[in-house]
Amino acid sequence: MHYNIALIPGDGIGPAVIAEAVKVLLRIGEKFGHGFKFSEVDAGGVAIDKHGGPLPQNTIDVCKESDSVLLGAVGGWKWDNLPGDKRPERALLGLRSELGLYANLRPAVLYDALMDACPLRKDIAENGIDIMVVRELTGGIYFGERGRKQTELGEAAWDTEMYAYEEVRRIAVTAFDIARQRSKRVTNVDKANVLESSQLWRGAVLEVAKDYPDIELDHMYVDNASMQLIRDPKHFDVLVTTNMFGDILSDEASQITGSIGMLPSASLCGSGLGMYEPIHGSAPDLAGKNLANPIAAVLSAAMMLKYSFKLDEEAKAIEDAVINVLQRGFRTGDIISPGMKQVGTKEMGRLIVEEII
Ligand code: IPM
Ligand code: MG
Repeated sequence: MHYNIALIPGDGIGPAVIAEAVKVLLRIGEKFGHGFKFSEVDAGGVAIDKHGGPLPQNTIDVCKESDSVLLGAVGGWKWDNLPGDKRPERALLGLRSELGLYANLRPAVLYDALMDACPLRKDIAENGIDIMVVRELTGGIYFGERGRKQTELGEAAWDTEMYAYEEVRRIAVTAFDIARQRSKRVTNVDKANVLESSQLWRGAVLEVAKDYPDIELDHMYVDNASMQLIRDPKHFDVLVTTNMFGDILSDEASQITGSIGMLPSASLCGSGLGMYEPIHGSAPDLAGKNLANPIAAVLSAAMMLKYSFKLDEEAKAIEDAVINVLQRGFRTGDIISPGMKQVGTKEMGRLIVEEII
């Protein structure tokens, strides 16, 4: 099969980690007989510099015509003083809404080989943490009405959290479907004790749950969920929540694995097209130094094979290769520990490619 992939290397360490992910995909292509064709386009700071805005129309068009999108990272100091709607991060929000990517999957996995990097007590973390955060990505307060007005207390500003039933239904379906392939548990996180939008949200999740009698469902308020993630992370299998709560809880979940440089993500629209990216940022201080950890980008490519192309065996070949390289003791600087062998971005990429035989 042939697959067209839009590549958005972006800013900072983005280009370096995407280069390694491409090498891994080409190796998979050789081994399993697939053709991958890459079309490179700009988004983020590099697009501001070259084209005058963070998300050129051509980038959107190329992404829409492709089978999937692989993105490195966007942003950096250089563009930090631009107004909100001109900043590199706008490219992400624009791509999400233009491509209709309403479902964001953020796995938080604690790898055995990286147990020492986990900041939680051993008895809480041992035997692994494996959580799939399913974050709604095109609705809620990120995309609701906003504005400013004068009040008697001075200038005021507002943002609106709003969810339509259908928006909740489809993300709940995504979460339940994924739970079926895992340990069949879903935790819904909302703030239904206070927010009207959360009450509708919970009602819709309960409605969808009727079609999934085989899945165990529980509900948590977001404040409690943020506590339980630390107290008892193994409680969670699939965690489904809103755009805003998912933004916050996915950072928390990633940090308890101690390996933010390792974690991939997928943003899906319900058909084949998806956008795949590491959850780490552009880390401008590491750019151009061959220091970045390419594993999150490589695992993002694996998620692409699995979710957009349904190539489960190929995805597993990448995941196994990463685990083998870690077990052989190779580490990039961000996950180094005593006794391990430190390698750079390119070496890590090469080691992973060599494990795919
Ligand atoms: C993320 C990021 C983005 C978000 C920012 C950069 C717009 O924090 O992907 O989690 O808030 O969604
Ligand atoms: Mg975030």
